[in-house]
This record gives sequence, structure tokens and C-alpha cells, in this order.
Amino acid sequence: MKIDSPALDHNFSANLSSILAPIVRLEGITKVYGSLNTEVRALAGVNLTINKGEYCSIMGASGSGKSTMMNIIGCLDRSTSGHYYLDGVDVSSFNNNDLAKIRNQKLGFVFQQFHLLPGMSALENVMLPMVYAGVSPSQRRERAVEALTAMGLENRLNNRPNQLSGGQQQRVAIARAIVNRPVLLLADEPTGALDSVTTQEVLAIFEELNDSGITVLMVTHEPEVARRTKRIVWFKDGLVSHENLTPDTLP
Ligand SMILES: Nc1ncnc2c1ncn2[C@@H]1O[C@H](COP(=O)(O)OP(=O)(O)O)[C@@H](O)[C@H]1O
Ligand SMILES: [Mg+2]
Repeated sequence: MKIDSPALDHNFSANLSSILAPIVRLEGITKVYGSLNTEVRALAGVNLTINKGEYCSIMGASGSGKSTMMNIIGCLDRSTSGHYYLDGVDVSSFNNNDLAKIRNQKLGFVFQQFHLLPGMSALENVMLPMVYAGVSPSQRRERAVEALTAMGLENRLNNRPNQLSGGQQQRVAIARAIVNRPVLLLADEPTGALDSVTTQEVLAIFEELNDSGITVLMVTHEPEVARRTKRIVWFKDGLVSHENLTPDTLP
């Protein structure tokens, strides 16, 4: 599968100049759910930096706080304390509107269960983020078709999610995540609901997106998936326990 859509055409020299610039910087991030006797400390003071251009996976036991952290990085939720710098901007104290805006401009998010809108076609699902971004209707359609074509779904534009296989639904979700040209693609167990062949397809897409300049951060519990990324961060009890494992040093 070749991804050469203009929607993904990042400027090469811009990529060069951005090498080693942090896209995500977490400083002492905590997250406490509930209150008093129901209190759960999901994150206990996470420090983590992800640089532009990285292809990084997050591993760790179930309940160790991976999704909580991804939701904070993805501006879907706020930390209880600490600072989160997204592309240099401290978004820790942003209100819901400002978070939604920056999410729409800079981030794409892919989930294990796809989270496509069931009443909409593949094309409409992919056009939706551009409605919020204020892209003109004709441009929306053109860019959605391009992104879906890049995912090999040019013959599935008018299908609804329940008329698509799991792998096809995840590719629609990836098209939706990248159509606003995010600097950072977040994926929380994106292959968790897929068979091994489809998993390979999704990983090939992530590799091409990363080659095109998009920073990719992915949670997985599958070591063979993590080994396809360049850097592995390990989570334990709401903290980063290893921040720079490589496919060779993964236990
Ligand atoms: N919305 C929530 N309300 C209360 N507790 C939560 C909520 N979301 C997660 N938790 C708790 O926070 C901890 C971390 O969960 P999570 O981030 O989902 O871990 P992981 O993704 O690593 O499995 C767990 O103990 C979980 O039960
Ligand atoms: Mg999780």
C-alpha cells in the first residue's frame, strides 16, 4: 500500500528542522479518579518526552495507567496535577473548548473499538473532523476521498461501519485520524480487536505515516507489535518504569 496523498504530504525540510523537538512533554502528571474512599490514583507523577518524528509504543500491565495517559495526551481528558506541553504549549489548564480546538488541529486518535459513527458512511465519518476544522464542503469531500484511497478503501466510500470488516473499519478510523494532517497520531491498542493479517496491514500503514513525518504513539500489549516501533516505554503502577527500551532490549 502506497501512501502518497497530498493530505499526508509533509514538508521534508520542515521535518529535518524539527528533529529532536519535543511534541509531547509531561511533567509530574497525576490523575486521580473518584474521591475519598473511592479514590483511584491512575497516574502517580508521569514524566515523559516524545520528540517529533518518533514511532513509539507504550506497554505495561492492564490497569497501569496507559489509557489514562493517552487520553490526557490526546486532550480527551485533563490531569489532576502536573504540566502537559503539547508542541510547546502548556495545555494543562485549557478548558474543554480550547482542548477540542487543539485536538482537532494537531492530533489524531485511533481506538481499539474504532469508534466510528454507525449511522454514517465511511466518507461521512472521515469528513466529520474537517467540519469542525472549518474546511469547505468540496475540500472536505476531496480530502476524505484521498485519505480513504490512501487506505485502500476507494471502493468502500459509501459503506457504513457494519458493512465493513474490522480491518476496514480500523482503516476508516485511521483515515479520519489523519485527514486534518495531525502532527501526532495516538493509538490505544489499535490492533487489539484485529486478526494477525490485519494487524500487519495496520502496522504497515503506521510505518508509512511515520516515514511521512507524523509522530506515532501507540499502546499495545503485544510484544511483537511493540517490536515494530523504534522505542518502547514501559508503564508500571501509574508511572513510567522504563522510558527508552528498544526492540532488542524489550524483555
Ligand atoms: N473513568 C474512570 N473512573 C475510575 N477509575 C478509572 C477510570 N478509568 C480508569 N480507571 C482506573 O485507573 C487505573 C488505570 O486505568 P487505565 O488507564 O485504563 O489502565 P490501562 O490502560 O493501562 O489498562 C485502573 O485502576 C482503572 O481501574
Ligand atoms: Mg487501556
